[in-house]
Amino acid sequence: MRRTLQLCSLALAVLPACGVTEDNAPPAVPVGAVAFIDEDPDPGHIEITVVAGPARWEYLPGKPADVWAYKDANAPDATVQVPGPMLIGRVGDRVTVHLRNELPETTTIHWHGLKVPAAHDGSHVSQKPVAPGDTFTYEFTLTDAGTFWFHPHLDGENQIERGLYAPIVVRGADDIVVDAERMFVLDDVKIESSGKLSETITPLDLMVGRQGNVLLVNGMKQPQLSTEAGARERWRLLNAANGTFFNVTLPGHKLRVIAWDGGLLPAPYETDTLVIAPGERYEVLVDLAGANGETLTLQTLFYDRGHDLPDFGPRPLLTLQLDGEVTGPRPALPTRWGDVQALPIDATTRVRKFLLEEEEAATPAEEPRFFINKEVFPDVTPISVGMDDLEIWEVSNDATMDHPFHLHGTFFQVLDQPVLGWKDTVNVPQKGSVRFAVRFDNPGAWMFHCHILEHADRGMMGVLDVKH
Ligand code: C2O
Ligand code: CU
Ligand code: CU
Repeated sequence: MRRTLQLCSLALAVLPACGVTEDNAPPAVPVGAVAFIDEDPDPGHIEITVVAGPARWEYLPGKPADVWAYKDANAPDATVQVPGPMLIGRVGDRVTVHLRNELPETTTIHWHGLKVPAAHDGSHVSQKPVAPGDTFTYEFTLTDAGTFWFHPHLDGENQIERGLYAPIVVRGADDIVVDAERMFVLDDVKIESSGKLSETITPLDLMVGRQGNVLLVNGMKQPQLSTEAGARERWRLLNAANGTFFNVTLPGHKLRVIAWDGGLLPAPYETDTLVIAPGERYEVLVDLAGANGETLTLQTLFYDRGHDLPDFGPRPLLTLQLDGEVTGPRPALPTRWGDVQALPIDATTRVRKFLLEEEEAATPAEEPRFFINKEVFPDVTPISVGMDDLEIWEVSNDATMDHPFHLHGTFFQVLDQPVLGWKDTVNVPQKGSVRFAVRFDNPGAWMFHCHILEHADRGMMGVLDVKH
C-alpha cells in the first residue's frame, strides 16, 4: 500500500493512471529533497524569495560549520541546508526569483543550464553584481526538462565552496515509472576536525581546484538511505565540486544513463562507471539488486584527470539499506525517450577553435594562470556570432589536466562519440580535444569557461555575443 501511494505521488505529473488529471498539482519533488515555497498560487507561475546569507550546517554530525547558504525566505530558519532547497517546476512555467543578498560581499545567481534571457543569466557580463543588502529579481520561463542547478557567478571558488549551490528540476512529459526518484548533489569540502571549513588554500588547490577531504552527497558525509530490494530508481546526479571529478559506480549494478545536462537522450545506454566532471549532470535508472537486509554502497573510483593526483581507491558516497522487497512485475521501460534531432552540420559549417592552456606560478607568491586562446579573463576579445548561426566548436586542451568546458545560454551536441544528446558542460581531456555542434538561438552576451572554479576565477573564461 505504502509503495502504491509513493509511486502515485512521484508520478503525479505524468501518470493519468493514478487518477490525477488536473495539472494544477505542484510537480512531485524527488524523495529527500525540499522545494522552495511558491508564493504565487497561480499554477503556471513560480515565485520564490532566495536569501543568500551566512548560516550553520553540519557536514559532520554534531560539528556545525559556518557556511553560506541559499535560504528560502518563506521557510523556518531551522530548515536551512546545504545545498539549498530545490527549484522545481514544469516546462512552460514562468519563474520569478527575488534574491536578497545578506552576504558580506557581492553576489549573483547563475541558472546553470537554463535557457534564460541573457539579462537574467547572472554572469559577469549579464548583470551588475548585487551588493550586500541589495535585492535583484530574476525572471525567466522554463523551456527544457532536465536537471540543472544554480550558483553564484562571482568569486565562485569561494562562494560555491562555502555552500551556495542548489539543484533545479524541470519536469516534462516523460512516462518513466519508478519506485523512487532521488536527487544526488555531489560535492566535497575541506574541513578541519572541528567540522569547520578549512581556510587553508594550497598551491595545488589553485592549480587543480580545491580538493576536499570529505565527500558529500546532498551536503552530508556518506548518508544512509532506506529503500527496497528490487526497486527501480531514477537518480539525478550533479557535480557541484570546485575541482573534484566523480567516477560513480554501484558495484554489481549497471547504471542506465537516460539523460545528460540538457535532458533525456533518444535512447539510454548502460555503463558500470560514470565520470561526472564539475558542472555536469546525468540521470540514471538503476534496478536495485540484492536481498532484503543487504546494504549497497555507491562509490566513486579514481579517475586520472592529470597532475599526478593521488589514487585513493574506491571511496564511499552513500549507502542504500534494503529494507523490504518490491514484489510483483516491475513497470515496463518507456518505448520513447528524448526527442533529439542531430544539428545539420556539414563540410561548410564554420569551425571555431579554442585552445586551453595553463601556466604554473613562477614563484610561491604568484598564482597559476589559465588561458583560452592565449587570453585571460577579463582581458578577452568577445566572440561575435549571428542569431541562429550553426557552428562547430573545437576545444583543444594543451594542459596536463582535464578542463570541463561550459557554455551558457544554449545546449550543444558533442561530436565524434556514439551518443546523441544535449550538453552544456563537456570534459576536455588533458592533451586531448573535443568538438561540438552548437546553434546560437538565445541572443545576448554569454560566457563560456572551465567549470573548475579556481581556473574560471584565474582567467579561463570567455565572452560570446549572440547578435539579434
Ligand atoms: Cu555553472 Cu558559468 O557556470
Ligand atoms: Cu552555466
Ligand atoms: Cu580548468
